[in-house]
Amino acid sequence: MTHQELRTLWTSFWEKKAHKLVSPAPLVLQNDPTTLFTSSGMQPLIPYLNGEAHPLGKKLYNIQLCFRAVDIDEVGNNRHTTFFEMMGNWSLGDYFKEEQLGWIWEFFTQELKLPKEKLYVSVFEGEGEVFADHESVKIWKKLGVADDHIHFYGSDKNWWSRSGPPNKMPVGEIGGPDSEVFYDFGEDLKIHENSPFKEKECHPNCDCGRFLEIGNSVFIQYKKSANGSLTELPQKNVDYGGGLERILAAVNNDPDIFKTDVFSSIIRIIEVETGISYDKSEKKAEMRVIADHMKAAVFMIVSGVIPSNKEQGYMLRRLLRRAAIKTRSVSGDLPVKLFISVGNAVLTIYDGYDGINKKEQETLVASVISNEMNKFSQSLDNGLKYFNKYEKVDEKIAFDLFQNFGFPFEVTQELVEEKGYSLDPTRFNEHYESHKNQSRTASAGTFKGGLADQSEQVLKYHTATHLLHQALRDVLGPSVRQEGSNITGERLRFDFFVDKKPDTDAFKKVEQIINEKIAEKLSVECKILPKKEAEKIGALYFFKEKYGDEVKVYFVGDYSKEFCGGPHVQNTGEIGSIKITKVKKIGSNLMRIYAQ
Ligand code: SER
Repeated sequence: MTHQELRTLWTSFWEKKAHKLVSPAPLVLQNDPTTLFTSSGMQPLIPYLNGEAHPLGKKLYNIQLCFRAVDIDEVGNNRHTTFFEMMGNWSLGDYFKEEQLGWIWEFFTQELKLPKEKLYVSVFEGEGEVFADHESVKIWKKLGVADDHIHFYGSDKNWWSRSGPPNKMPVGEIGGPDSEVFYDFGEDLKIHENSPFKEKECHPNCDCGRFLEIGNSVFIQYKKSANGSLTELPQKNVDYGGGLERILAAVNNDPDIFKTDVFSSIIRIIEVETGISYDKSEKKAEMRVIADHMKAAVFMIVSGVIPSNKEQGYMLRRLLRRAAIKTRSVSGDLPVKLFISVGNAVLTIYDGYDGINKKEQETLVASVISNEMNKFSQSLDNGLKYFNKYEKVDEKIAFDLFQNFGFPFEVTQELVEEKGYSLDPTRFNEHYESHKNQSRTASAGTFKGGLADQSEQVLKYHTATHLLHQALRDVLGPSVRQEGSNITGERLRFDFFVDKKPDTDAFKKVEQIINEKIAEKLSVECKILPKKEAEKIGALYFFKEKYGDEVKVYFVGDYSKEFCGGPHVQNTGEIGSIKITKVKKIGSNLMRIYAQ
């Protein structure tokens, strides 16, 4: 079966069941301060699972592009990827377990014709205030699932929320027990023979590779309350998700999802470009990582992400650099041509689907990939030389590799694992933090608070920066957050985050407000306040900075209040006037303003 055929079957199945297609969310999120990527189909539906009325009704379905960074270390086996398509259906307080499990069973056994004897199911065994899910067991049995194909597990396996089991759910998070379906590829599989589990008794969740989870019906009916207990939501919901790539593997009865048609042409190109056969080589895991990461990277690039050291851009950079390191390990080389061909293959597979237009995007994809790979290949050679100088690389050396050669931590971790040992991420972070503190102290004397010096002009620009910060929030909304500032006698520079694209006239308004506040000749005053009180009165602060218990807050009239070390002018009238000379985008949701 092809992925297009599977998508069509999913769509027509739910149309027949009177469900409405809800548009998938973008893979790369711009307006969600809690997360960078969509990682499940339910994410955009949270308000509706909580009880808000959905404009399309109570029965929904779709296929959602997802990215899960948490699975990055698992990629390399037969079934894990960071990027995947999730086929989902939802009941927003409409039907519940009986219909859901019946329909999913019907989809698997009648639409996809998966043999019943190859399907296993799991149910929640109960924990704390939530009882074992005997209701689902009864339904599965009624559908014809044999007793020994039904397995109970605890909240580590059969509970779903975005944050995991109940004890990890933050206040307000929703979730519930779930029931999964697994496909059995058979005991005699080589993958099972080779697995560390081969001496142990196998079961659907044993992770040996014999069983593949192909669908998860979550019964979202609880919310974490402030006292730590779970309270019932106003409605009982169903949230189902099944990975398209995994379901295809089950339909094709081949446990390797990299053999499905959403991967096979990518793997083929890696084989051609490296001259290594996927099936025969010991580098299968590396080839899978390259295929997965490059696919995720292409989807990020077409969504407008460019490699950088921040947020989505940093994830893209990590994916490309991890793919580069794996390619080096497969072929001994870093052929940029390989990455461009793989990028093209990804566009070919998905051409015309969910934001992909090969003809329009291939130049962009090729140039982003080749720029980043060329940049990295220079430091990679030098970094590997540095790496190879040491008999044993420790966390300090891993930090040097990060700092000087752009090796993300996990890249060094991959490299050392090949030599049979591993690094401690906490110790790596200690080096990282200590470096940050040192550079903060070192720059404090020369560039305190982003000021080049204490000259009259710099002080004027500094106060103007506070007016700018508040004016940006007035015009663009409270998502505006300072990311950095740099002030010289010539100009002020201010970097900030904003959750939406500003209108063309937004910065004119900002400039006008600043000049009005200058004309009002507002006095500038400083108070030392307990940090809690300063936060309570709504003083703005630079979120990357660590503050003590007592902080200095600068008030500009009653217009702006901000945590700040100073110094400033005494009255805004001294500033004269301010003109915004340049505004540019410096990253996703990040902008830089210059003013004089
Ligand atoms: N939310 C569940 C998951 O992501 C089912 O859709 O697995």
